Amino acid sequence: MTFRTLDDAGSLAGKTALVRVDFNVPMEGGKVTDDTRLRVALPTIEKLRQAGAKVALLAHFDRPKGQVVPSMSLKPLVQPLSELLGAPVRFAEDCVGGPAHAAIADLDAGGVVLLENVRFHAAEEANDAEFATSLAELADLYVNDAFSAAHRAHASTEGVAHHLPAYAGESMRRELEALDAALGNPKTPVIGIVGGAKVSTKLDLLKNLVGKLDRLAIGGGMANTFLFAQGVDIGGSLAERDMADTAREIMNEAKVKGCELLLPVDFVVATEVKPGAQSRPVTAGDSLSADDKILDAGPATVARLVEAITASKTLIWNGPLGVFEVQPFDAATVAVAQHAAALAKAGTLIAVGGGGDTVSALNHAGVVDDMTFVSTAGGAFLEWMEGKALPGVEALRA
Ligand code: 3PG
Repeated sequence: MTFRTLDDAGSLAGKTALVRVDFNVPMEGGKVTDDTRLRVALPTIEKLRQAGAKVALLAHFDRPKGQVVPSMSLKPLVQPLSELLGAPVRFAEDCVGGPAHAAIADLDAGGVVLLENVRFHAAEEANDAEFATSLAELADLYVNDAFSAAHRAHASTEGVAHHLPAYAGESMRRELEALDAALGNPKTPVIGIVGGAKVSTKLDLLKNLVGKLDRLAIGGGMANTFLFAQGVDIGGSLAERDMADTAREIMNEAKVKGCELLLPVDFVVATEVKPGAQSRPVTAGDSLSADDKILDAGPATVARLVEAITASKTLIWNGPLGVFEVQPFDAATVAVAQHAAALAKAGTLIAVGGGGDTVSALNHAGVVDDMTFVSTAGGAFLEWMEGKALPGVEALRA
């Protein structure tokens, strides 16, 4: 796919760039507890500053639903952002109108201002054209660096792009390139791993993937639903037993489309989900008691996945294979992630992960830096895996 980037923007000296970032960061007691999303925005901000542009950062925080909610102000981000940038960051009490214009006018070339939460205006989520125009009036160009908010058709992610020359920022560009390498134009064979608790939340995603991938491994709680649909005894495991027909439809669809489905062939079972709980390995097909819960994939399943990944050129991963937060039920996720990351590091596999708790699972496995790309996006990554067009990305197409 082709989209406009800052390299297409010409000279930026003296211009004002309105930069949509995703600063929806975890906060506790007014303090940022994970600054990943602030750091993700730095390359674009630095590039614009070095080119002599003024940078006006536009972002949402939480879901204030069009009201001014003081606890959802972006003001607490000014200091951590300024520390990361090593430069002062101003704050504007509103993202449009007098306060925003005045703060931008006060900036020197290369200066940075953070505009107040755009979702304090109901017009933002309504993608109101007049509001998009007010945003556009602040700047000479618009840069979208918020892939993780690109599934929203809001004024700051979509509408404003129609009123200014619009470009993908550096992080957006990296993200789109990685996603294209994983699912758009991948090196084949391509394998997907989809884990997590529920089939019902990932139906569209599974249906899209079976039409695109050579192999699809299903893990986590959702694998139990598939096993149950095949008549495998899953004891008292978490599963959506009423989704058995849907699981069978997906299995049929995979067969028709030539996608090999890899379901667990063995598991780790325990009666309690707590650290160090007594557990035992079980082969699929063995009978389980009503207290038994499948909490992780077993060693034979891991070996099969390792083999399938080694035979692939591209891996796309969403969701853990077991209850990775509770040891020892992290074993399969960690082993498979470490294998994939080692191949990615050696350059024989393109390994891309993201969505939901995938980042924490990959972090837990200590592999984030060795994967080809790990997306910090949640909903946007999932919608992209579902094959949906993301409004914020569409608006940047060349
Ligand atoms: C996210 O945190 O995934 C994005 O910032 C989108 O937030 P939203 O789900 O409130 O639109």
